[in-house]
Amino acid sequence: MKHAALALALWMGAFAGACGSTTPPPETAADKNDFDGESSPGDDATATSESAKAEKPAKSEKSAAADEGEEAEAPAKSTPIQATKFEADLKKIGINLKKIPELEKLPSAQKKKVMPLLQKALGYDTCQGCHAEGDFKKETRDMKVAREMWRHFVVPLRSESGGTLFCDSCHAGNEHVLNRKDKKAVQTFMEEEYQYKLARADKEDMECGTCHGDAMETKIIEKLWNIPK
Ligand code: HEC
Ligand code: HEC
Ligand code: HEC
Repeated sequence: MKHAALALALWMGAFAGACGSTTPPPETAADKNDFDGESSPGDDATATSESAKAEKPAKSEKSAAADEGEEAEAPAKSTPIQATKFEADLKKIGINLKKIPELEKLPSAQKKKVMPLLQKALGYDTCQGCHAEGDFKKETRDMKVAREMWRHFVVPLRSESGGTLFCDSCHAGNEHVLNRKDKKAVQTFMEEEYQYKLARADKEDMECGTCHGDAMETKIIEKLWNIPK
């Protein structure tokens, strides 16, 4: 893990150095200090097939139709941060936007009113984007992810201007928002969008580690939040 932190520091340093000059973007520097450095041997070879599989388990319980678009689901370009369209809705539901509670702590009436917003933010056709058919209580992987996204992003983070950060700020109507094929592009995207265009409610500096942890774990969902694929 020391490796990862070092690679990141080097990479960030190289990027900072490139700032303000006409030197081309961090691509060159990132080349050497790619995140591959933190993976165990052989890890990288499985990375692509892993992320392809990641979509399977959730979908297999749902409609077969959802499977069809699977290839096309990863966007060609990662989705930039946008202002949430649901601030007024959230206020109307009665959520204190200055101090947003965790999803599971919302009073039941508010929780139910928030659900259609989650569906829209992720661009799901129906509630079964997350829920098992006919049973809203049955725990699914997508519910687990949704709860943690709310806890780690919606509660403690804000937009650049200090406004609400909601699911649609990052998802913009899509379940998948990252093009992970080009690692350097993902890193640049993360820095330009998730680090520079977001803020923390506690006013501390946004860093990669705010979301990825001090050891710079890139598999946030699986490793930091312990939600298996
Ligand atoms: C992005 C994922 C997501 C989508 C889409 C979603 N839900 Fe949920 N839903 C959750 C999560 C997570 C919980 C559990 C919250 C908690 O921990 O209390 C939940 C809980 C619920 C509950 C409460 C169940 C209980 O324990 O009593 C109801 C009812 C519900 N959802 C209805 C809906 C409806 C109706 C829709 C479609 C309009 C919908 N949900 C869409 C994630 C989602
Ligand atoms: C800071 C940006 C950000 C915010 C805010 C955010 N997400 Fe995400 N979410 C992501 C990223 C990045 C991914 C990984 C997407 C990918 O693989 O293309 C993701 C993935 C997901 C997935 C799919 C997980 C999987 O492995 O299949 C679900 C479901 C999800 N988010 C739900 C939510 C919900 C619900 C909210 C609001 C409570 C939310 N997200 C808020 C960035 C965000
Ligand atoms: C607002 C939260 C947030 C910040 C800040 C952030 N990231 Fe991310 N990053 C995510 C999420 C969410 C994912 C998807 C994680 C997952 O799939 O488990 C992700 C994924 C990645 C990936 C892709 C991992 C893979 O294997 O596909 C890389 C690389 C990455 N981030 C690098 C960075 C770097 C470098 C920084 C700082 C410049 C940064 N991130 C800042 C939330 C963030």
